[in-house]
Amino acid sequence: MPHDFRSLIYTLEEQGQLLRVGREVDPEYEVNAVIKRVQKSVNQPILFEKVRGARFSLVSNVFGRRDSVPLSLGLPKSHLLAEMTEREANPIPVRRSDQGPVQEVVQVGSQVNLEELPIIVHSEGDAGRYITGGVLIAKHPDTGVNNASWNRVQLVSDDKLRVRMMPPQHLGRLHALAEERGQPLETAIVIGAPPGLMFSAASKIPFETDELEVAGAWQGEALEVVRCKTIDLDVPAHAEIVLEGQVLPGTREDEGPFGEFTDSFVPVMKNHVFQVKALTRRRDPLYHTIFAGGEEDLRLLGIPIEQQVFKHVRQYVPRIAGISTTGFVFGVVIAIHKENEDQPKNAMLAALASYAWIKLAIVVDDDVDIEDAADVLWAVQTRCRPDSGVMLVPGVPSYTREDVRAMHSGKMAIDATLPLDYRRVGQRRRVPGEESLDLRDYLGDQISAVLSQR
Ligand SMILES: Cc1cc2nc3c(=O)[nH]c(=O)nc-3n(C[C@H](O)[C@H](O)[C@H](O)COP(=O)(O)O)c2cc1C
Repeated sequence: MPHDFRSLIYTLEEQGQLLRVGREVDPEYEVNAVIKRVQKSVNQPILFEKVRGARFSLVSNVFGRRDSVPLSLGLPKSHLLAEMTEREANPIPVRRSDQGPVQEVVQVGSQVNLEELPIIVHSEGDAGRYITGGVLIAKHPDTGVNNASWNRVQLVSDDKLRVRMMPPQHLGRLHALAEERGQPLETAIVIGAPPGLMFSAASKIPFETDELEVAGAWQGEALEVVRCKTIDLDVPAHAEIVLEGQVLPGTREDEGPFGEFTDSFVPVMKNHVFQVKALTRRRDPLYHTIFAGGEEDLRLLGIPIEQQVFKHVRQYVPRIAGISTTGFVFGVVIAIHKENEDQPKNAMLAALASYAWIKLAIVVDDDVDIEDAADVLWAVQTRCRPDSGVMLVPGVPSYTREDVRAMHSGKMAIDATLPLDYRRVGQRRRVPGEESLDLRDYLGDQISAVLSQR
């Protein structure tokens, strides 16, 4: 499969997954209201053909389902985390081209018209319209190493945007380096980036490693890039839209409030200012928007966390059956083939230390469905011995956002594996045939409407 955003959309459409909205929708709340309802029911990717006032189509929930991650990277579903870890160790240098579809249309300076893009208002109480599907690329001024990260971007005008960089984000570090020299940081905002780049942008990859090269490693071939028209940066040749510009030195403005992934608001803060220099795009770009805290956002945030947990836990547990950020991304569930009673405890410690955000780690046996929060709770309630199976680590912060840091103090882990001594008595029962039968063969139309919601 070609490794670009629209190829993934077309593939999802061929598979019958893509939903299309033909009627006109309001960019203020209505788009997000539909996305939210879709995520809570069928959870399929969705394309809005006509957003009021805009020229181009909008897509969302492309990564709502976990399956679309291995599909987009061409990796095996069963070994996704192991394969990503192996490939990350061997970054692939970018391949430069003189031209690419992302520069089919070039608008410089006053030609830039952001009204053409369906930039939406996400939630009641937000400060205004926000771009949430943008990967920001910048490079180290001395080493030239590229960094990629996701940042929400507030629309101010055709030539000005505001950006939130939560410390210790690498983009903020790069900006601080430029600012010390009194210089702006040249930055590109890439919308509809190749999936490999979307995941390297969401991952905590070491500052010294080039995230365009990791994107290549994850997609299994070099990322094809073109040189920006007005700044000295490389961007993916097959992206949908690129905003070229610079983050100003010595300038901060009020940004927010914005309803973010925790389902609450980040208050107004003094954040960075992005000056737009140019917009390049395909002739008919697909504009990607992400509902903060929805299924797609949690997937993009969750896969890199799971991969980080995998790297740490596998040092202690050779047979990991699966890892999932089921529920929310401040917690992780790890399924193991337990061989001794030390393994869950070591997995709990390793998981808590593997990623700052993790506040809760639950270890279960391999017969638990870790994608199903109810099954995980079943394991906690039937298999955990609270007097010895719960670990509290006081005083360690998890989510470190400035204004709520104290609220997220301390970490907790739960051993919900069946004690080895009780293996026989606690063995899970099976009803042969249950997994393979199709209820429609028995109940026909009575049940198909309900099943299609799953
Ligand atoms: C859709 C989405 C939006 C995000 N928005 C922000 C943001 O506005 N500010 C921020 O600091 N991090 C944001 N993040 C998290 C960062 O992208 C993530 O922490 C990333 O690893 C940072 O890259 P770095 O390791 O190069 O610093 C967002 C992540 C996703 C998936």
